[in-house]
Amino acid sequence: MFYGLVILLFLGEDLGAEMGTTPNLKQIVTGRCYDYVTLVNPSFRYDCEEIWREFQEAVVRRPPCDVSVWDYRRMFRATPQALPCDRLLFWSKTRDLVHSYSAVARRFWTLEDTLVGYMFNDLIWCGQKERDRGFDFSSCPTWSTCMNHPVYSLWKQASENFAASACGNITVLLNGSIENAFNRKSMFGSVELDNLNPRMVDYVNIKVVANLEGPFIESCTHGSILELIKILRNRGFRWTCTDRDVTLMILQCIQNPRRFSCQSYSHSLLQGQAAHL
Ligand SMILES: *[C@@H]1O[C@H](CO)[C@@H](O)[C@H](O)[C@H]1NC(C)=O
Ligand SMILES: *[C@@H]1O[C@H](CO)[C@@H](O)[C@H](O)[C@H]1NC(C)=O
Repeated sequence: MFYGLVILLFLGEDLGAEMGTTPNLKQIVTGRCYDYVTLVNPSFRYDCEEIWREFQEAVVRRPPCDVSVWDYRRMFRATPQALPCDRLLFWSKTRDLVHSYSAVARRFWTLEDTLVGYMFNDLIWCGQKERDRGFDFSSCPTWSTCMNHPVYSLWKQASENFAASACGNITVLLNGSIENAFNRKSMFGSVELDNLNPRMVDYVNIKVVANLEGPFIESCTHGSILELIKILRNRGFRWTCTDRDVTLMILQCIQNPRRFSCQSYSHSLLQGQAAHL
C-alpha cells in the first residue's frame, strides 16, 4: 500500500476503469479483520463490526468521487495502532521484492502489516451516484478523474498515520532500475516522507535495489536518491544509504539462481555458508 505506492496509483487506474467494488467486500474486510485480531496479531483488540460500519458510512454517504480523508476519521478512530520502533519498512516501486523481504527478514512491518493495510490490501470500493444506495459493484471511477477517490483517500490517511508513528530506525526500499526511484508524486514522496518526525526517527536507512539484470539507473550517488538525501538532511534526519545490500541480493538470486551475478552466491549457498540469511 501499500505504500509508499505509486504502484497502487497505477494499479488503481487500470482496474478502476473497468471494475466496480470488489465482490463480497464486506465478508472480505470483516473476515480479514477477524483473521488479524484472532490469528495475526492477537494482542490487539478491535471491534471488527464497528470498523466495518464506520467504513461503510464513510463511503456510501458521499458521492463516489468525493470521499475525503476526513470522511474516514471515525473509521481510523476505531483502528488505533501503536507500531514497533526500528521496524517500519517503506517502499516505492519495489512491490514484488518488498513482501518477500519482509517475510524473510521478519522483523519488518510494512503498511500492509497494519490492521487497516491488511484489511484493505488490493480491494476496490466506491458508493453509488445516489447516496445511501450502498456500494457500486458494477463500476467505480478511475483515480485520475476524482478529486477525492474513496480508495486513494483511505490509503493516504493510512500512509500518513503509518509514517507519523514511525520511531527509531526506519528502512526505505527504492528501485534502482528506474528513473525517479524517489518520486515526489509517489505515496512515499508525497505523503509518508512529510509525515516522518525527525524527533522520533533516529535513522532513515535507504536501500536502493536494482534488478539483477539491470538496468542500473539510480544509486546512492546517482539520480533522484540524491534529492531524497537532501530533503532528509534539510529536515534534520540522520540517514544511511546502500545500493549493495547482501540480503536483498540473495533474495533476488533465490528467485533467479542461474543469473551470472548470482553464481558466487549459489556457490556459497551450496556449501551452506549463507547462514546470515
Ligand atoms: C523496478 O521497477 C520495474 C518497473 O516497474 C519492475 O519491473 C522491477 O521488478 C522493479 N525492481 C525491483 C527490484 O523491485
Ligand atoms: C540504526 O541505524 C544505524 C545506522 O544504520 C545503526 O548504526 C544502528 O545500529 C541502528 N539501530 C538499530 C536499533 O537498529
